[in-house]
Amino acid sequence: VLSSADREVLCALWRKLGNNVGIYTTEALERTFLAFPSTKTYFLHLDLRPGSAQVKAHGQKVADALSLAVDHLDDLPGALSALSNLHAHKLQVDPVHFKLLCHCLLVTLARYYPGDFSPALQASLDKFLSHVILALTSNYH
Ligand code: HEM
Repeated sequence: VLSSADREVLCALWRKLGNNVGIYTTEALERTFLAFPSTKTYFLHLDLRPGSAQVKAHGQKVADALSLAVDHLDDLPGALSALSNLHAHKLQVDPVHFKLLCHCLLVTLARYYPGDFSPALQASLDKFLSHVILALTSNYH
């Protein structure tokens, strides 16, 4: 469970990211596709070249889902239930891939905000992303 300290750190970080969350999730997607090419197999219908407008649009959707999650820390499974269904049943994304994207998001944010990225912030963010993954995989049976 996220402690109140985790929540404070996370909400402060999200306020700082402001309207740029989409930029970072887009970069995280690009990094994921490069570093872990198996993830690309789910996106063969999209243009995955660097700078692709389709990846950018998708990055914004992922960003909005993460921002929604930050606003619903008390009920992540509820807030992400429809997305869990989508990934489990329609898209059939193997859950191992979620960790890879979250890892790349962590790396991306660490590069943009090196001064903020204390071990404590990294731990809180990692915890949050683990809970997001738990919620996203809650409808896999
Ligand atoms: C679609 C969120 C991880 C594959 C989506 C959408 C959202 C989303 C919001 C759009 C849903 C809609 O249009 O209604 C997330 C979040 C993730 C995550 C928050 C983890 C933090 C992944 C991973 C993969 C994946 C790891 C595969 C490697 C897909 C695919 C689509 C999709 C294939 C459909 C894309 C399209 O055709 O436009 N995801 N996702 N997702 N996601 Fe995820």
